[in-house]
Amino acid sequence: MPLPFDCRDGVLHVEDVALPAIAAAVGTPAYVYSTAALRTSARAFRAGLASVPRKQLAFAVKANPNLAVLKLLAAEGYGADIVSAGEMLHARAAGMPAESIVFSGVGKSRRELAAALDAGIGQFNLELEEEGVVLAAMAAARGLRAPAVLRVNPDVDAGTHAKISTGRKQNKFGVALDDAAAIYARLAGRDGLDLRGIAIHIGSQLSDLAPLEAAYARVGELVARLRAAEHTITHVDLGGGLGLSYRPGEQMPSPAAYGAMVARVTRGWDVTLLFEPGRFIAGDSGVLLTEVLWVKPGAVDPYVIVDAAMNDLARPALYDAFHDFVAVRPSGQRMTANIAGPVCESGDTFAMGREIDAVAAGDLAVFRTAGAYGATMASTYNCRALVPEVLVDGGRFAVVADRIAPEAMLAAQHIPHWMAEVEAAPRKAALRPATGRALGAAHRPRSRRSASSGRLGS
Ligand code: LLP
Repeated sequence: MPLPFDCRDGVLHVEDVALPAIAAAVGTPAYVYSTAALRTSARAFRAGLASVPRKQLAFAVKANPNLAVLKLLAAEGYGADIVSAGEMLHARAAGMPAESIVFSGVGKSRRELAAALDAGIGQFNLELEEEGVVLAAMAAARGLRAPAVLRVNPDVDAGTHAKISTGRKQNKFGVALDDAAAIYARLAGRDGLDLRGIAIHIGSQLSDLAPLEAAYARVGELVARLRAAEHTITHVDLGGGLGLSYRPGEQMPSPAAYGAMVARVTRGWDVTLLFEPGRFIAGDSGVLLTEVLWVKPGAVDPYVIVDAAMNDLARPALYDAFHDFVAVRPSGQRMTANIAGPVCESGDTFAMGREIDAVAAGDLAVFRTAGAYGATMASTYNCRALVPEVLVDGGRFAVVADRIAPEAMLAAQHIPHWMAEVEAAPRKAALRPATGRALGAAHRPRSRRSASSGRLGS
């Protein structure tokens, strides 16, 4: 089977679609996802866990909440790991059954808890004792018992970027391992709560299985202690975190290696294991397609200024993340360059002094491994459009998220009525200098129009 992202006849394709065709139809920048790649990674992750007898797979919606992507994953048997009512809305709209949804998140609002209870979601991952107390009361008032597990913080250094590390004791997530048994005992007896196990998630983009194994082993000890105290433990949520190779040649643990480790550590636990992969499923399934606007001389290396920016792909600016940059029509020539976007911050730089395919203004290129934490972290900073998303399936493609143009953002803003009234006067004054002519008019040819512009707004 051909690779989902491959050069054919000198042109980079996504499956059977040449990227210039997408650029022509949709414009740039744009995220482009491959159906085949999504399916392949979803199946590879499941296959890696073949030796785990009872399991549930919940895609971490935060990695890519695109409706079409979620629908594809639902068809692959994935439920959803959500962290907000908005993500629940997306998962439900994609056809994911409520029972297959797990609600993680350190700050669930009471309104969100109520919405999730009313929807009948499959599991609440409690982050603190008080949340369990509140959820229990809300469920009891509805005549329900909320299925829940307690998230513990194992105090393990996941060895990943500090901003995406979640399992050290100074992080905001979970309850301290030492306090877990006591909190569990206090929550377990409550009406309205079906407390049934433990959850853990120590971080994302994990390149080493050892910290995961250490954390899982601590969960195993806790499960044994809880059982010794007569608690019934039926579910353990092992979170997500499996890393991806972003740099050519970078070695990452395979799903098979991960699955073997999980099978080894959890042998004898006799529970249903939940998994919340995000990046592993979506990351390699998407690219960010961009056009080179200018190649500008720099102090050391030239700047390749592309039309994608930090607002479209925030990971390099936030985490110094590496995304491979590849020309859509590589000439075979190479250059050393800095790659930057149009946003007015030096942080809007994707790479410094990197050897890349030689590119010139007007060329198309992609940032690879952009299918996870890409479009979903986009913003409209600098009043830039919200980047569109395209899904390829074989020889066809469709826009699966529109480009939200600045006009639409403007239409969603409002001048309060009191400003509409008072604003007019000072603005007129500012526009009319002492000569009585509108600012800017001096630069226009003295046509009848510019002459009359002296009365602009009067
Ligand atoms: N479960 C929980 C409770 C999580 O907090 C996360 C990710 C996942 C699962 C999925 O982890 P994954 O399999 O994708 O590693 N924006 C950052 C990543 C933030 C991850 C947050 N939590 C980035 O672009 O690297």
